[in-house]
Amino acid sequence: MNHSEKSMDTIIAYTKRKGFVYQGSEIYDGLAGVYDFGPHGAVLLNNLKDYFRKKTVQEKRDFFEIDSAMFKNPAVWDASGHTSGFSDPLADCRVCQNRIRVDKELEKVGIEADEKMTDKEINTLFDSKRDEIKCYKCGSTDFSEARSFNLLVKSNLGDFTAEGSDPVYLPGEACQGIYLNYKNVVDSLHPKIPFGIAQIGKAFRNEISPRQFLFRTREFEQADTQYFVKPGTNKDHFDKIRQERFDWYLDLGVNKDNLQWSQHDNLVFYASDAWDIEYNYPSYGYDEVEGVHDRTDYDLSQHTKHSGVDLSFNDNGEKFIPYIIETSMGMGRLFLAVLSEAYDEEEVGTEEKSDVRVVLRLKPFLSPVQIAILPLMKKDGLSEMALDIYRELNSQFRCTYDESGSVGKRYRRADEVGTKWCVTVDYESKEDATVTVRERDSMEQVRMPISELDNYFTEQIKQSYT
Ligand code: GAP
Repeated sequence: MNHSEKSMDTIIAYTKRKGFVYQGSEIYDGLAGVYDFGPHGAVLLNNLKDYFRKKTVQEKRDFFEIDSAMFKNPAVWDASGHTSGFSDPLADCRVCQNRIRVDKELEKVGIEADEKMTDKEINTLFDSKRDEIKCYKCGSTDFSEARSFNLLVKSNLGDFTAEGSDPVYLPGEACQGIYLNYKNVVDSLHPKIPFGIAQIGKAFRNEISPRQFLFRTREFEQADTQYFVKPGTNKDHFDKIRQERFDWYLDLGVNKDNLQWSQHDNLVFYASDAWDIEYNYPSYGYDEVEGVHDRTDYDLSQHTKHSGVDLSFNDNGEKFIPYIIETSMGMGRLFLAVLSEAYDEEEVGTEEKSDVRVVLRLKPFLSPVQIAILPLMKKDGLSEMALDIYRELNSQFRCTYDESGSVGKRYRRADEVGTKWCVTVDYESKEDATVTVRERDSMEQVRMPISELDNYFTEQIKQSYT
């Protein structure tokens, strides 16, 4: 099917049906903006994280990965600017008390607005379009003034502090853990500059209207890299990193026609350049999956100032605060982009008897299930033989064993979750120790000795990385 024919409603229903994504706390009517990953989803998510680690840390000589604690001293969020400036413009519906995010609603009626605008700027635009902006719950146009709403989520960890002192927050962005550990990494591993630190970490935001499935949630994960460079070299590094990040999506199998760059016009005051990689989400259209930011020396300067600890780098006697090139990708948005890209419906069968098969065309290194092992019949020793093959292959590859229903139905079930190969054990297998291997996309079958399966799949998966 064409990408333009895909619908997010279909994909959301599919992710639930096939065990990829569930609404969080569903049996209690759910919790807005929170989702759980099911058995297939958890494996796909982990495969994406493994690939991130492979490309950004393992294959590089100048990158380290850390895993910092979510809770941080509250002073961190003052230094980073989150307690004062991390907000979105909110307005209340005066009829049903629903809350809307005013900049997003303005965009829908063709007005360029963003969360970095002052209350005054956003209210001027809002006032000019009040007749056109309707409450998505009750349809009213009667809203309060827009006001800034801080997105940090508070916790009560160690809530025995004096009244008026800062609460402990959940992380508003994962990267702060990297800045806090920059000095530790320098002191313990003595990297030469430039070098990078990567981290996959959770972030929490009190999003005003989390209505787009995994795209805008209140709990999500960010896969970040922070590259520490000498001031003056940032522009060159920035361009190189941008290219690398774009190519990364192509390596995952995302079609370049569904990706685009978007440069920020309205930069936060400390950034010298910022670009988003946008994916063409079914039904939603192009929107941000990852940001690439030149954050100058802002982060380490702020933490130097607020902590009193000197975070400058000593490069053979030359001391400076490194500039930081950041890449920050939402894992949920990536997951949704990769699934949307791979999801396909295809007409198969004959003119007289046609059928639609759902097939998830994931690269095999990403597939939650790589190989299905199917005995043609449950009897005559075929199950036992198939189970032996399953046990042998499953120690190396992600396999499933399926003996229920016709082989055709089992192929369909396998295709639907992206299983790249089906190995069928039949009567001939008993005679000559061969099986048929059916490939998911072409549906072609080849006969192969059982003894060659291991090498064949290893080679195929290796090739799929490029
Ligand atoms: N440290 C930089 C930072 O946090 P950001 O643009 O706010 O920058 C980076 O977030 C990425 O995190 C985004 O590109 C997006 O993929 C993801 N993200 C942000 N807010 C999100 C939300 N509410 N739900 C899901 N993903 C989100």
